[in-house]
Amino acid sequence: MNKTFLILGGYGNAGRLIAELLLQETPVQLVLAGRNLEQAQRQAQLLNQKFNTHRVAGVYLDAADLASLKAAFAQVDLVVVASSTRNYVENIAQAALITGIDYLDLQLSSAHKIQVLETLRKDIEQAGLCFITEGGFHPGLLSTLIRYVAPEFDHLETAQLASLIQTNWQTLSFSPATLTEFVQEITEAKPMIFKEGDWIQLDWNSYQPFHFGNTFGQRHCVPLFMEELRELPQTIPSLKELGFFIAGFNWVTDYLILPLSLALLKFSPSVTPLVSSLFQWGLNTFSKPPYGVILMLIAQGQKDNKPITMQLQLLHWDAYLLTAAPVVACLLQYLEGTLPKSGLWYQSNVVDPKRMLSDIEGLGVRFEIRKMTDLGL
Ligand SMILES: NC(=O)c1ccc[n+]([C@@H]2O[C@H](COP(=O)([O-])OP(=O)(O)OC[C@H]3O[C@@H](n4cnc5c(N)ncnc54)[C@H](OP(=O)(O)O)[C@@H]3O)[C@@H](O)[C@H]2O)c1
Repeated sequence: MNKTFLILGGYGNAGRLIAELLLQETPVQLVLAGRNLEQAQRQAQLLNQKFNTHRVAGVYLDAADLASLKAAFAQVDLVVVASSTRNYVENIAQAALITGIDYLDLQLSSAHKIQVLETLRKDIEQAGLCFITEGGFHPGLLSTLIRYVAPEFDHLETAQLASLIQTNWQTLSFSPATLTEFVQEITEAKPMIFKEGDWIQLDWNSYQPFHFGNTFGQRHCVPLFMEELRELPQTIPSLKELGFFIAGFNWVTDYLILPLSLALLKFSPSVTPLVSSLFQWGLNTFSKPPYGVILMLIAQGQKDNKPITMQLQLLHWDAYLLTAAPVVACLLQYLEGTLPKSGLWYQSNVVDPKRMLSDIEGLGVRFEIRKMTDLGL
């Protein structure tokens, strides 16, 4: 029988694209949920019309309300958490556990979320449920890229990931909860990389240059720790250096709004709404074309006693397609039954990397691989 997935945040930027790709690629039934019933139902109707189907429904659901989460989850097989609900991660995870459904979230790494899920790890295993955290592209694809390329090396020694998000923010609208979450994420971010056997904390001004091709050129990027990378040096013991770096948004946001915001937030967290508005203004006003999103890996090591370098690059003009495609590709593996039936996993580490990259390419993401000789480094 066809499965039913509930997408919390199903009419948000990420959620509605996940819904669309799921309808396109799978026979699942969908429930789009959020705190605006009208928007949920309108989006469901739009998708039913587009795909000439009755597979989509829209419902009211507030993640703050455990009882209604349990009632809604009792009707479905899996919840996709595409909502800005980091404050309610415990509610959502508990409701999934109590009603016996599987779980996939795409929220950014937060110590609180990981701690809540880790606390439930044993219960999840005992209940025979599959919980996947950190879906999307970052988090979501960082260690997948490294695991994809690792078999090409006898010794993979360095893996540097970098991302650039140059988006026309004016065309996007967000739930106020998403803007608050964005500010919380910035204050909690850690500039950590792995070097010579340890994760070490750097300064935010430890910039590293990356070249993002002719369109975007060279950009200075800052290190940003992602949980999915933490255990990778244990899986690939030859790794001496590993890190993820991210390019800034635009100079006003990076060099004026960001430091000012961090200073204000240190003074009092109650300024979060003001800081959210400042960021929104900076992103909307100063982000300029060309637009595009790139996630890249530069991997270096040895093959047959010779040094080799490989560069992998994922590219799309729409950050949300790059977010939704890996989630749907992961769910394709879930539906086929090739993922573990139970346990707590990071999307990036649980999927088959070859299949993941081939599927997201099929969903429209450009995927390029180059070897040292092509790079002209
Ligand atoms: N891993 C990745 O690569 C990646 C990339 C992009 C985004 N994300 C994450 O994905 C999430 C969504 O981002 P987005 O840009 O799609 O945001 P968005 O467009 O603002 O959508 C957020 C959705 O969450 C819903 N929501 C918020 N609070 C809720 C609550 N208490 N109960 C139920 N629904 C609630 C919102 O609806 P209402 O406000 O009407 O309830 C809305 O539908 C964020 O956590 C973001 O960090 C991850």
